[in-house]
Amino acid sequence: KRVAILISGGGSNMLALLRDMAAGDHPARAVLVASNDPAAAGLARAAAMGVAVAAVDHRPFGKDRAAFERALLEPLLAAAPDILCLAGFMRVLTPGFVDRFAGRMLNIHPSLLPKYPGLHTHQRALEAGDAEAGCTVHEVTPVLDDGTILGQARVPVLPGDTAESLAARVLQQEHRLYPAVLRRFAAGDRTPLFL
Ligand code: GRF
Repeated sequence: KRVAILISGGGSNMLALLRDMAAGDHPARAVLVASNDPAAAGLARAAAMGVAVAAVDHRPFGKDRAAFERALLEPLLAAAPDILCLAGFMRVLTPGFVDRFAGRMLNIHPSLLPKYPGLHTHQRALEAGDAEAGCTVHEVTPVLDDGTILGQARVPVLPGDTAESLAARVLQQEHRLYPAVLRRFAAGDRTPLFL
């Protein structure tokens, strides 16, 4: 299976996916890493691993999301991915874009969905006094951070945790969960994985 990955920043999740796919005996290989930010550090990390990269700056398109997505679709469709992974991708995608990849588009979200869709998930978990937090890999649908859950990993919330310390603990689990879910998904197995 051909996998394209969309990033917006450092791409630590993207790197975890690339490393796992490079380990061989994997049903998928990365065909493109694309970003909405030409300065995304993840682009250089992907290129250093020999993966094709593309950057489409969303800023010139202003509020015209569809125009940005048309530009993004050019390198994306040229790579002919079977699966599209969002990994720290911070742009909301229109239903028109999502529908093109219906049933074969994944995202990792730093909360135990359905709790805390959207932003500032760790701060919200702390403010709620949750004993646990974590991350979710889900199929992307037109509704933000909704869609079938394909995997979750949990971490304890510890006394004295800040949003940063909790985020770091969750991120470590993201790097375990996302590669494990992609392996299954690329092999046609949609059984949810709970780490
Ligand atoms: C992190 O907050 C992570 O929890 C979320 O996206 C952000 C950046 O991730 N998935 P990455 O390092 O760019 O993969």
